[in-house]
Amino acid sequence: MKALVTGVAGFVGHTLAKALLAQGHEVVGIDMVTDYYEVAIKERNLASIPTERFTFHRSDLNEVDLDALLEGVDWVFHQAGQPGVRMSWGRDFAVYIRQNIAATQCLLEAARRSSTLQRLVYASSSSVYGNAETYPTRETDRPQPVSPYGVTKLAAEHLCSLYASNFGVPTVSLRYFTVYGPGQRTDMAFTRFVRAAVLDEVISIFGTGEQIRDFTFIDDIVRANIAAATQPVASGSVFNVAGGTNISVNETLEILGSLAGHPLKVDYTDRVAGDVFRTGGSVEAIGEALGWRAEVDIHEGLTRHLAWGERTFGWSS
Ligand code: UGA
Repeated sequence: MKALVTGVAGFVGHTLAKALLAQGHEVVGIDMVTDYYEVAIKERNLASIPTERFTFHRSDLNEVDLDALLEGVDWVFHQAGQPGVRMSWGRDFAVYIRQNIAATQCLLEAARRSSTLQRLVYASSSSVYGNAETYPTRETDRPQPVSPYGVTKLAAEHLCSLYASNFGVPTVSLRYFTVYGPGQRTDMAFTRFVRAAVLDEVISIFGTGEQIRDFTFIDDIVRANIAAATQPVASGSVFNVAGGTNISVNETLEILGSLAGHPLKVDYTDRVAGDVFRTGGSVEAIGEALGWRAEVDIHEGLTRHLAWGERTFGWSS
């Protein structure tokens, strides 16, 4: 099969591209390589992708010839976007609108014209729920984002469902719950924590550290994407992809401290607007539809994340 992976230089994008190539598929990758976080890391991600059966385009989805890019493509994995729940206020919101909403609409228009496309998997987000009414939160619970970022992810998800119902574009939206593991973005909690643990630096915790997250290991996210592409499922479907942890940030620091063999240095600062107090997703729907469930628990996942951090943070020391 031929797959297009958008955001291929990013955390999920490059990991997914490597998994698809390892399964013998052909991969076309696109990424505009923004400097939201270190470009050197994105370039290293790209360099880690084997070149056989892989082609890369450094372009903006809003500007590139998407019809040409989608030629002969069976699956689209739309991972591109402007990430970060806490940065999406103020003037920067314009960037989120362009990269998360407008770019998705461009892709959906091209997908509508494609004669080969079998599935478009959209990387949605647990941030669409905000502080949910019930836990574990189900896909049918009312979304009420608390960050402008979450608003844009929800808008793009609605566009996917609209293009599915009006034009038959075969979309599936996966609501990722805080993805972690080797290669995680450097603005996210665990990569910041393991980096600080390795370099013996101070970790800043936003708020009390009692906020709860449903963390999901990267390999489980990759498996969910491939299941969503390969298994029969109604176009326009929306699924949570949640790792099943129900753990506070403080508890993750304890686990990391014991894995690192020394307590971590922690400084508590103000909580940040846009930060959800708790996430927790029901995985009943994705279990029934795709037979997916998380396989990597938080201890195993953090062990692998820390081992990656120990190998990686030579670059900044
Ligand atoms: C993450 C991603 O950044 C979003 O792009 C994604 O959409 C979202 O998951 C999701 O699940 O939909 P977040 O849960 O905030 O957002 O992920 P982390 O950056 O790993 O933060 C986890 C928790 O640790 C947050 O409560 C955050 O405030 C806290 N944190 C993070 C700190 O206390 N200190 C830090 O240095 C970083």
